[in-house]
Amino acid sequence: MKYKELIAQMTLAEKASLMSGKDFWQTQNIDRLGIKSMFLADGPHGIRKQAAAADHLGLNASIPATCFPPAATISNSWSTELGETIGDYLGKEAVAQRVNVLLGPGVNMKRNPLCGRNFEYFSEDPYLAGKMAAGYINGIQSHGISACVKHFAVNNQEERRMSIDTIVDERTLREIYLTAFEIAVKEGKTKTVMSAYNMLNGTYTNESTHLMREILRDEWKFDGVVVTDWGGSNDRVAGLLAGNELEMPTTAGETNDEIIQAIQSGAIAEEVLDECVDRLLELMFTTEEVYKNSQQQEVDIEAHHRVAQRAAEESIVLLKNEENILPLKKGTKVAIIGDFAKQPRYQGAGSSIVNPTILDNTLDYFDQSGLVSVGYESGFERYGNKNTKKLDKACALAKEADVVLFYMGLDEVTEAEGLDRQSMKLPDNQLELLQALKKVNANIVAVLSCGSVVEMPWIYNVKGLVHGYLAGQAGGRAILRVITGDVNPSGKLSETYPLRYEDTPSYHQFPGKEVSVEYRESIYIGYRYYDTANIEVLFPFGYGLSYTTFKYSNIQLSKNEVTFELTNTGNVVGMEVAQLYVGCKSEAIFRASKELKGFTKILLNAGETKTVTIPFDDKTFRYFNVKTNKWEVEEAEYEIMIGSSSSDIKLADTISIEGTGAPLPYDKAQLPTYYSGKANHVTEAEFENLLGFKVPIAKWDRSKPLGYNDTIAQCQYAKGGFARFAYHLIVFVYRFLNKIGKRSTANIIMMSIYHMPFRGVARMTGGIMNMPMLDGILMMVNGQFFKGLKHVIKEKNKLSKINKENKTIAAATKEM
Ligand code: BGC
Repeated sequence: MKYKELIAQMTLAEKASLMSGKDFWQTQNIDRLGIKSMFLADGPHGIRKQAAAADHLGLNASIPATCFPPAATISNSWSTELGETIGDYLGKEAVAQRVNVLLGPGVNMKRNPLCGRNFEYFSEDPYLAGKMAAGYINGIQSHGISACVKHFAVNNQEERRMSIDTIVDERTLREIYLTAFEIAVKEGKTKTVMSAYNMLNGTYTNESTHLMREILRDEWKFDGVVVTDWGGSNDRVAGLLAGNELEMPTTAGETNDEIIQAIQSGAIAEEVLDECVDRLLELMFTTEEVYKNSQQQEVDIEAHHRVAQRAAEESIVLLKNEENILPLKKGTKVAIIGDFAKQPRYQGAGSSIVNPTILDNTLDYFDQSGLVSVGYESGFERYGNKNTKKLDKACALAKEADVVLFYMGLDEVTEAEGLDRQSMKLPDNQLELLQALKKVNANIVAVLSCGSVVEMPWIYNVKGLVHGYLAGQAGGRAILRVITGDVNPSGKLSETYPLRYEDTPSYHQFPGKEVSVEYRESIYIGYRYYDTANIEVLFPFGYGLSYTTFKYSNIQLSKNEVTFELTNTGNVVGMEVAQLYVGCKSEAIFRASKELKGFTKILLNAGETKTVTIPFDDKTFRYFNVKTNKWEVEEAEYEIMIGSSSSDIKLADTISIEGTGAPLPYDKAQLPTYYSGKANHVTEAEFENLLGFKVPIAKWDRSKPLGYNDTIAQCQYAKGGFARFAYHLIVFVYRFLNKIGKRSTANIIMMSIYHMPFRGVARMTGGIMNMPMLDGILMMVNGQFFKGLKHVIKEKNKLSKINKENKTIAAATKEM
């Protein structure tokens, strides 16, 4: 232990006090030993440091900071350098705001397009997500502070995120859901990891010794700190045993006492706590270093805004360009239609929400574009209501223009933390308007703003489609520069666009049942599924157009790398993302027909040719063998493919690879659907063959009294009439708020009350309510109303007395 001597000077209470927050965002300080509080702040695409009222849902304002485009956007750049640059600027701003740990990036896989938080994550592919994350982390941590990769692991939906049990087989866990974390730990060298709210195969992630010790510490050699997601601790002692150093936010000392009791009773050894303290001290001291002699640093707001603009420009994806309608020539007469042109949709909602320093919108910068505006009409109601007047006005304007620029997308309430989307559709009122516009002007270029995949049955109505995703605070100008050709688009999709939601591999298993969600599709997520099962998609993974064209030639393979030539065959400078996919020719182990194993982004002048090399690495040929419980390589022929998207393979060759000689992991006859690749409809029996254990009962056991880990939603079948009434009241208020258009408030009720486990009531109230009081509430819920109420009052009085005594002691100590 590095801080053995310092730890020896601490009392047991002092050591335990470090294991949970002092308040919502800070860790405990111990002044007499020179231990300062650390400040942890969101988030992944900008700093959300709350100066006053604190919350984890993005409700209260934070200090202004640059709002860079979120991860879903930046991953379309396929540029790890850009990731590092953003990390660097995030780091600078974090230091200027005196933050020690920045709570990002988020690297969860996009298992299903409806996950409400997909905008915060990079990709459906673990290799791409991991490499992007490593870039961010390197950039952030170059300032001496810590990044915090989250949410470890299998947190792939928002519905019941604090209670859901994710059932997944070990190979899928390793290959799909953990690889991005592995890269973030090994290559990014993140100093902090945030555990996820959910359970993994029956155990809360922060209590899972398999996840936290065997994989994270022993295999990946992670020597940093694990922090719980806010309010995500269940059994504090079990968490500590699994190596979870820090619980956030504060529990007003309640869980520290649990640790003390466990040590005093001999249930756990004090060394377990000491080791956690040691690792936490390392994080505290190293991230404090930067603040030792430096004065408060100033942020150059304009310069950071420009970086946000460049980031958006490199990430915007051109999806359609019929008749080369784009780029628009200077002087083109344009009608600007759509609410999103005036009020950009530039980030998602929830804990990642940033209070931007500047916010560009299209209208303000239109004059600089060289295009001629014939006017602006909002055309539709942002939150979905029909408005014929607006539609008519927009159509009248469209008639006057050469080209219609139609700004469409999802509103900010639809893509939010804590809730999944209900469908993959855009609002009807926008589509009606689009159809009407098409009747008066055939030259429509749509600009799409949303952070996750939508269905596009309307695409035939537009000649051009520019997908800005959520383009950050400088997105308005960045999009215009792509439209006019000042910037040649080079973004490529980091997720597949299926034709319809029903085509997605997890369609039948999302968001699961009451207790659990079964990842029956196994390794077949995203393009791995569409490609192997031959399902037609709208836009494949890795797809994106440019204003120039590229030619791939002359592939050469060696043991360690693949080399080829790339030529810009068009008239303008451009960037191409070349992608390396690998497919195994043997059918002994079921696999996706191809997997991304490398990529590079190359800048080429018109007519220029460059030789490009993509090296192989430890992941190129590996698979996880459940029999040996290790990464192995199968001896076989492998196809090495270079593509400009996952379905546009330009060059291919084969290579023979020596294997590690491991026994084959599967009995093929037991897993026919997996071997066929058509894994969107796997039976429970076959899934159990893959898992090697029985799936848990997915429905609530309505005969049992409700306990700490049951959710408020389960009050619907509680014994206590009071609880059932409360449940109906919550549902009524939710529906009512929706009806009167207060969707945002309605959503908050859903995520912070309806789906909250009872333990969260104690964990998230900063000490106002403690576990003994919660016991009383549970008595009331379970039918013993008066007994429970008496218990609550008794415990409340006890707590008030203790708090008073503590205050007196604190005051006396101060005076001494
Ligand atoms: C989110 C985390 C976030 C934390 C603090 C949680 O609700 O899941 O991603 O960092 O709140 O705001």
